Order: sequence, then structure tokens, then C-alpha cells
Amino acid sequence: MADSGDETSRWEGMWSRGLAPGDRFDCKGSSPALKWAIERGLCAPADGAKGPAVVPGCGRGYDVETLSRVDGVGRAVGVELSTTATSSANEYLASQSVDPSAGSVVTGNLFTADPASLGGPFSLAYDYTCFCAIPPARRDDWAAGYARLLRPGGRLVCLQFPLDTEGRSDSDLAAASGPPYPVSDSQYDAALLAAGFRKVSRHVVPEELSHPGRGGREALAVYEREPDSA
Ligand SMILES: C[S@@+](CC[C@H](N)C(=O)[O-])C[C@H]1O[C@@H](n2cnc3c(N)ncnc32)[C@H](O)[C@@H]1O
Repeated sequence: MADSGDETSRWEGMWSRGLAPGDRFDCKGSSPALKWAIERGLCAPADGAKGPAVVPGCGRGYDVETLSRVDGVGRAVGVELSTTATSSANEYLASQSVDPSAGSVVTGNLFTADPASLGGPFSLAYDYTCFCAIPPARRDDWAAGYARLLRPGGRLVCLQFPLDTEGRSDSDLAAASGPPYPVSDSQYDAALLAAGFRKVSRHVVPEELSHPGRGGREALAVYEREPDSA
């Protein structure tokens, strides 16, 4: 199993070699599926308190920008393993006139991030391609990270990708190479339900709401941290 130092070097290397908008995983903006979810109230916890929001593995910060503009969220914070990504994200947010008090990115690791030092605990968390970016053996740590960052009743919205599951068992998928590691709905459930989340809903994403090339391989799953979980 790769340790966090290996992972940090891998991502830092990729970002510091130069990663322009549109390169590799960078899709130049938030997925239309996130905007669709916001419009349908899927990013609002059942108890009504919408923010603040946290976006681990946020890359250039497109989703931080999107969530910073949602009424009631108040403040969105991205957490990025790569210092170069953090700088690129904060430059991007400034270029979009996002006030740093409403949207910003800090360098950190989802596995160890401390909610209080980030301005949490959070009411909302959004995961897009962070789950598929981490080694499958670290998925319990991924789920524990979200359980730590969210308040009881807080909501985690996962845009699941890449759902390349046709004819493959979860153990086949877990042995596949990556990143991106192929994912299944049951893998998200296995990690999150064991970490004290309940599943609220799941929505297959219509092809036209995915970034080009990702259609038919995405679903949006909504979880909430159980009020009595640790
Ligand atoms: C596939 S990219 C996705 C970026 C962004 N979500 C997007 O859709 O453009 C994954 C990002 O997660 C970051 N990352 C990987 N492991 C992480 C961790 N444990 N904690 C925080 N960020 C992490 C990487 O540096 C990388 O920028």
C-alpha cells in the first residue's frame, strides 16, 4: 500500500510539471451534475443548515467556486494535497472574483484534516474524483476523513466516477490499476456506512449532465452523517 508521502509526491509531481485547464482530469469547470444537484436541493442537509462546505481533492477549485455561490452555504473550503494545486486554485478563485472569505483552498490531506483548523465542522462536503484518486486500500481512511469533517447531520454528496463496473466484481475493481481507480456504488456504501453515514438517495446522471467523455459512467449519491456517529 502506498503511504501518504508517496501519494503526495505523485500528485505534487503531476501538478508541478504543469497542469493546464483541460489537461488530464481537469475539466475546466464544475460538472453540470453538481449544478443540477444544487437546483434540486440535494446539497442541502435535511435539517436545513447548508454551510460551511468542504471539497477535499478539489484540484483547481471549480467546485469550491460553485459552492461558494450557493445561497446559505456562506463559505466553501477546498483541501488539496498538492501545494501547486492549492496555488493554482486560489489564483483561479481570484480570477473569478471569489472573495477569499467565501471560497478558498488550503493544502491538506483528507486523511488527517482537522475540521476546527479549516473553519469546520462542515454541513456539506462534496467529493468528485477524490475517491477514485486514492488507493483502494485507503477508502476507510477516506470515509473516516469525511466523518471527521462533517457535523452530525451533515451531508456528503458524491459524484461517483468512473463507474466502469460492467461484468466486474468489487474485488476485481479494487485490484485494478489507477488513478483513476474504477469505482462502484457498493464500494462507496461499504466505506461510508461503516464510518457512520446513512444513504439518502442515488441518482444516475443523464449523459448530458456529465463532462464530455464521462457520460454514462456517473451517478450522484447523497449521504448524511448519522447524528449519533463518532
Ligand atoms: C483526480 S484529481 C480531481 C481534482 C478535482 N476534484 C477535479 O474534479 O478537477 C484528484 C485531486 O485530489 C488530490 N488528492 C489526492 N489525494 C488527496 C488527499 N488524500 N487529500 C486531499 N487531496 C488529495 C490530488 O492532488 C488531485 O488534485
